[in-house]
Amino acid sequence: MGFNMRYLDLKRKIRDVRMWAIQGITEAGSGHPGASFSAAEIMGTLYFSKMRHYPSDPGWGERDYFINSKAHSAPGFYSTLAVAGYFQPEELRTLRQLGSRLQGHPVRYSQHQKHHSVPGIEYSGGSEGIGLSVGVGIALANKLDGRKNRVFVLIGDGESNEGQIWEASMAAGKFKLDNLVTILDRNRVQQDGFTEDIMPLDPVKDKWAAFNWQVFEVDGHRVEQIVDALNKAAQVHDKPVMIIANTVKGNGIRHMANNPQWHGKAPPKRQTEVLLEELESECLIAPSIIAGERENYEDKIRKVEREGVDMIHLDVMDGQFVPNTTFFADTIKKLRRLTSLPFDTHLMIENPVKKIQDYIDARCDIITVHAETCTENEFREIQERLIDKGISPGIAINPGTDVPKWLYDCLHNLDVVIVMSVNPGSAGQKFMSEVLAKMVVLNKQLREHGFRGYIEADGGIDATTLQQAYDAGARIFVAGAAVYGGGDIHGALLQLRHKAAVGLERRLLNHATQLNIRADWMKARKHILIPYANELGIEEELHAIK
Ligand code: DX5
Ligand code: ZN
Repeated sequence: MGFNMRYLDLKRKIRDVRMWAIQGITEAGSGHPGASFSAAEIMGTLYFSKMRHYPSDPGWGERDYFINSKAHSAPGFYSTLAVAGYFQPEELRTLRQLGSRLQGHPVRYSQHQKHHSVPGIEYSGGSEGIGLSVGVGIALANKLDGRKNRVFVLIGDGESNEGQIWEASMAAGKFKLDNLVTILDRNRVQQDGFTEDIMPLDPVKDKWAAFNWQVFEVDGHRVEQIVDALNKAAQVHDKPVMIIANTVKGNGIRHMANNPQWHGKAPPKRQTEVLLEELESECLIAPSIIAGERENYEDKIRKVEREGVDMIHLDVMDGQFVPNTTFFADTIKKLRRLTSLPFDTHLMIENPVKKIQDYIDARCDIITVHAETCTENEFREIQERLIDKGISPGIAINPGTDVPKWLYDCLHNLDVVIVMSVNPGSAGQKFMSEVLAKMVVLNKQLREHGFRGYIEADGGIDATTLQQAYDAGARIFVAGAAVYGGGDIHGALLQLRHKAAVGLERRLLNHATQLNIRADWMKARKHILIPYANELGIEEELHAIK
């Protein structure tokens, strides 16, 4: 997918950004969680995957420039710089404190300002509507000087009420600034309400195109789409580029999502741990396309892509390691042209080290091999080659297998552990509940030894078993027969997501109870909890909360 880094590592880093931002905001008791979260994938994808920059040399002459014009997203921006390596993330806990380098709005870094700013900040933001003009200036200067540096500007949709944005936009069109990429954080919420109620911006795409910009539109929380649009932007000539990123304000914390009141308000500090658990609990659903009617893979992919699934699970079976044969790298290459959805490729083949290059060339995003099919050295070689190519490495273990001891030395750069809940070989088998205990132990042991990746449950996952696997620690769920076996893909995915949400809400409620903030949490979360009140057994309690 043209990531310059591993898909799951990028997801994890962006998760860390949200976690550091919320710690800063709750510690300070003020700040802007809404915008910090709506722009997290945009800023993360730029800094962790696409921009040319060196945290160890912030002034590098050939660096790309990032201008954060919607400066109130400062906590998210600071966290992105910290996770990228510009300074220690722990400093986020000093956000907005007297004497801290991290104030409410970023200050351009310089030797004179080194006590009020951090390396990597190119622009002092605050009052909005100005950053694009600065970006246009830098891009024009670079063009006049024949420099190759690119300029990325982040603007908001509330901010687009400012006339200066449109002046700058005209200038960029006039000067054909194809070294300028502007990303609109289209979260449809501004300080005091919804943008379309306050100052309608739509048709926003037509507006920018009419000002002679090349316009792309993406889901602003899907890193693969942002990467795709940035790759296309790099091919545009004689026009500046606008990427309209449709986002959700407060995305990541369900009761903050799309809620104007969380524009500039901090959640209470006592809720921090529960909020961190929510941010760490994002789960991904990956339909397995070998399930249901034979083949017709293209149609199956299109159907679930329309439903917004997170990735596609590709089961490669060679008829040797498992008694069945499905498809190989050549088929994946064809499917790759169909979609930007990440490919979660599960290799059930003998001797994977001999064939791994084919799957690297097929541009899979995650490649998992079975522990039963490779030695320690072979796995290390596979892991190294995948990481080198920006592909997330994974290992799978059959129900009867335990993780090999040597794996504990490879955990640092391991993104996935598939705990098979069926004996591999076909879709539509019954979930083996005896693997749940193993999954619980493994999740704990691996994390104690530094594993920061995802536990993936594969085999017999449906609405019931998903919740059990969720409670056991899985956060990636493969679903074959449950999605393609019943004829109602939409309904099946809704149910799986519902069950994952019930699992999440139960865990958060338990955590809040342990912290003695149950009623407080339920009050903050009431509108989210109502649909699950029956399954959580909290109907009366919730009703009593005013
Ligand atoms: C089994 C495969 C699974 C399977 C999942 O060997 O690895 O991915 O296709 O399908 P269900 O969800 O139907 O078990
Ligand atoms: Zn599989």
